[in-house]
Amino acid sequence: MDLSLPNVLALYDEGAPLEEAYTLPAAWYVDERIARIEHEQVFGNNWIAVGRTDQVAAPGQFFTFDLDGEPLIVVRGADNELRAFYNVCRHHAAAVATAPCGVAQHLRCPYHGWTYGLDGSLKGAPEFAGVCNFDRGANSLVPVRVSIWENFIFVNLNEEAPTLQSFLGGLAQRLAPLSVSSLRFFARKSYTLACNWKVYVDNYLDGGYHVPHLHKALNSVLGYTEYTIENGTHYSLQSSPMVASQDDSVAQTRTGDRAYYYWLYPNFMINIYEGVMDTNLVLPLGLDKCLVLFDFSFADTSPEREQYNTESVAVSDRVQAEDVGICESVQRGLHSRAYVAGRLSVRRETGEHLFHRLLARDLRRT
Ligand code: FES
Ligand SMILES: [Fe+2]
Repeated sequence: MDLSLPNVLALYDEGAPLEEAYTLPAAWYVDERIARIEHEQVFGNNWIAVGRTDQVAAPGQFFTFDLDGEPLIVVRGADNELRAFYNVCRHHAAAVATAPCGVAQHLRCPYHGWTYGLDGSLKGAPEFAGVCNFDRGANSLVPVRVSIWENFIFVNLNEEAPTLQSFLGGLAQRLAPLSVSSLRFFARKSYTLACNWKVYVDNYLDGGYHVPHLHKALNSVLGYTEYTIENGTHYSLQSSPMVASQDDSVAQTRTGDRAYYYWLYPNFMINIYEGVMDTNLVLPLGLDKCLVLFDFSFADTSPEREQYNTESVAVSDRVQAEDVGICESVQRGLHSRAYVAGRLSVRRETGEHLFHRLLARDLRRT
């Protein structure tokens, strides 16, 4: 078979309706050329959630972030303005900020001591007298577009991309009644998985299909047959009524009338039960490796609730362990010569179909 890039890209038919659709071809999960296009067209071209506003609440607070190999820094200036920059020194490209987070009055590069203001402007370049045609004003940190929705901070590496608000479309109105910005951050957990990042997103978007089989404890609180799936332009909303359960730890920490599982293209999920939210951010670390960051927030983070909140995180951790095992199994299967592509459940997998079509559209933009 001719595995030229145009032929690999042509393996997916994004025009097929769900009843006729196939999954993304296996090659798209294991081909370095696809990962390189994703670097440009997916992670370099869409609004990506990189953190939370509470991480940069006060002037001088910053955090660094690796976006598919792009070193970034998000910082709140002395003027209270939130900014993002490439965390790349204009001298010889070292990372200017090396800590994952902190508070600073200025940003000093550890290599040769160039110093930048929190607004990115170059303030000091030691021993640079006599350098011809050196324009200090043209050597600021390179800015990155940053925008906020609820308590989530997003960046977009494409200067020309539409605004975050237009990218979100109807999702902003759909999330607003759930008041997630009133929740308080409690803990972050990170998981490294031996699978392509898209395998994890696929698993999330199968409309609960895997829940009764893989997550028996979680399934005990969900009304599986009444699970709903609704797609928007760049998002998919899954929701399930909650039912009584015999499993104590799950029943006590997953309460309320409904569970909401919201996904925003390409890699951000927001999961909400009564009084608790966890967000999942899926980041490629290579073809066969991804990082998933879980941020847990609760309505009540007082010391009296510490044990309850910790148990709630532990319930999520057990579910995640089940997902890790299956995602890694899928990645091994995608490498097999036996597998080319699969079909999609019309009842369950419409969210996955949306993801695949959005991804195909981005990849073909090249
Ligand atoms: S690389 Fe930053 S000062 Fe030289
Ligand atoms: Fe799962």
